[in-house]
Amino acid sequence: MERNETFETIIEGIVNKQYVVVDDFFSAEEVSLLKNGLLDVLHQQAFKKSAIGNRTDEKVIEAIRGDYIFWLDEQTDTPASALFFKKVNDLVAYLNATCFLGIAEKEFHYALYPEGTFYKRHLDVFQNDQRRRLSLVCYLNDENWLPEFGGELVIYKDSGDVTIFPERGRVVIFDSQTLEHEVKPVQQKRYSITGWLKTR
Ligand code: OGA
Ligand code: MN
Repeated sequence: MERNETFETIIEGIVNKQYVVVDDFFSAEEVSLLKNGLLDVLHQQAFKKSAIGNRTDEKVIEAIRGDYIFWLDEQTDTPASALFFKKVNDLVAYLNATCFLGIAEKEFHYALYPEGTFYKRHLDVFQNDQRRRLSLVCYLNDENWLPEFGGELVIYKDSGDVTIFPERGRVVIFDSQTLEHEVKPVQQKRYSITGWLKTR
């Protein structure tokens, strides 16, 4: 497989510190295409209140999590989904070929955090389902996200907390099984695609 520097950076980050931040994983043009896909779904009023737990055991709990989500279907042929899954599938092929991660499934949703919402500290794996291996968050906000907008992702590591702002085009990838994290309250709408690469 041909060497890909971005994917190598991702692997190095995951192996050495269980997380990695990649700026410009998506270009400004790509972000605007993905964001349009999200806004189409929003205008169709297809976003749903997020829940806690997996699909067989889910509860809506406002005090824990306030975002709205829409699950992406790779078969649905929109420019946004074609672009997004092409990039993710390339990454998965690279991970499986070079580090034998055994990623066999994936699931992704658009996420919208309205003003005042947050997602309290949590782990992305469920008690009854441990297949999530890597969490991926792709931020679709306009440029110049200011610190006072809040909405930072905080990853809790033994070596100290890591704070990551949801900058346009930035992607954060982290170990779903070990890293607790939270989304701090946002002061304005926060857009992303979030999902998981899973083992069988
Ligand atoms: C999640 C999550 C982080 C983020 O949806 O499980 O932790 O930065 N998202 O949006
Ligand atoms: Mn999470």
